[in-house]
Amino acid sequence: MRDILAPESARWRRFTQVFADVVEGAGYRQIISPIMEDLGVFTRIGEATDVVTKEMYDFVDKGGRHVALRPELTASVCRAFVEHRPVTPWKAWYSGSQFRYEKPQRGRYRQFDQVGIEALGADDPYLDVEVIALGWEFYRRLGLQQVRLLVNSLGEPDDRARYVEALRAHFAAAGDQLSEQSRVTLTKNPLRVLDSKRREDTTFVASAPTIDEFWSDAAAAHFEAVRDGLVALDIPFTVELKLVRGLDYYRHTTFEFQGLTLDSAQNALGGGGRYDGLVESLGGPPTAGIGFALGLDRTLLACDDEGTFPAPGATVDAFVVDTTGGREALVITAELRAAGLSADRAYEQRSMKAQMKAADRSDAALSIIVGTDELAAGTVTVRPMRGGEQSAVARADMVTTIQHLLSIHQNTEA
Ligand code: HAM
Repeated sequence: MRDILAPESARWRRFTQVFADVVEGAGYRQIISPIMEDLGVFTRIGEATDVVTKEMYDFVDKGGRHVALRPELTASVCRAFVEHRPVTPWKAWYSGSQFRYEKPQRGRYRQFDQVGIEALGADDPYLDVEVIALGWEFYRRLGLQQVRLLVNSLGEPDDRARYVEALRAHFAAAGDQLSEQSRVTLTKNPLRVLDSKRREDTTFVASAPTIDEFWSDAAAAHFEAVRDGLVALDIPFTVELKLVRGLDYYRHTTFEFQGLTLDSAQNALGGGGRYDGLVESLGGPPTAGIGFALGLDRTLLACDDEGTFPAPGATVDAFVVDTTGGREALVITAELRAAGLSADRAYEQRSMKAQMKAADRSDAALSIIVGTDELAAGTVTVRPMRGGEQSAVARADMVTTIQHLLSIHQNTEA
């Protein structure tokens, strides 16, 4: 697990802010879910998924409850829906850390962050399109261009069940030629075998039946409307009939955003789909649902690769240099901060030279200098750090003068 220091931490915050702007503009409102829940909430993700069987941080707490750190948020949001019964359609967004016991590597961590949305209570295929389009728009706002959208439909539960049986038969016929790993996967979750990148499996994966042969008329019509909506919004996509997602609750539409600059094992920037049975499995009424989660860590790696969405620079409006002992710096920084300006200072009565160096490092627009002369005269020296004349300013006029200089400074920068 990692520490995120400045300026990367500021980039994380801005990432979430940009996401919030995009989805709040579409009527999604924030939900803050607990980080830890009853294990039973998460087992609904799918008893045959790695996320549940191998990767969960679960333990028995001091009260004897079996709990887990959340590996994702869709199950928690559905649990909250069952508990609070909000008016539908209920549109929620979230951000935060998830936990999965995976093998850490670039783009794959045990604690990682996601932003996401969930829309509950509407079975409209154009809602699927809205959801996908919001993910697409978010990448656009970040400036990412090397993103590919893959879409698929897993059909209705019966379609999917028949497809799974067909896959089971197909891969079972391969017998020992299938990799050992995939033979194990086959006994638990035949769909996941489609995800195998092992050399021994490639021909069998390529010749496997595809889900479209199993779609009911209703499922085919839903997916057709989704594709039509994406075309209407000019969002480029590829239909990938063997797209499998790591979680088991999906039916109908599923999709994934892939980052083309990333290694194929970690190139899923985000993904989601419909999960119309999940609320019911958590004790609620039959309720349609669709959403996605986007991985923050991987998306920022993709931003680095494309040279977009850099960490914001850290700067302050003013840096106070006080050679009279530090008390003036204490009072002046407090006065500036109270007026809504950002201000920093040096400590431990350093020399003038050392304090000016610190002022440079802070990237402040102005330095405010107080020596014994200024203190006696009731003034400060205001020195622009990026060119311009310094001037003596009466203490009483300090804040307004600084505000004025900063506004000129901002206008010339803009
Ligand atoms: P997921 O595909 O498991 O879906 O995760 C979504 C994204 O989280 C991935 O595409 C990836 O970017 C990121 N991610 C997953 N695991 C890791 C990891 N170990 N390290 C770094 N990033 C990771 C879900 O979580 C579903 N809840 C999405 C959803 C919402 N479906 C419907 N609604």
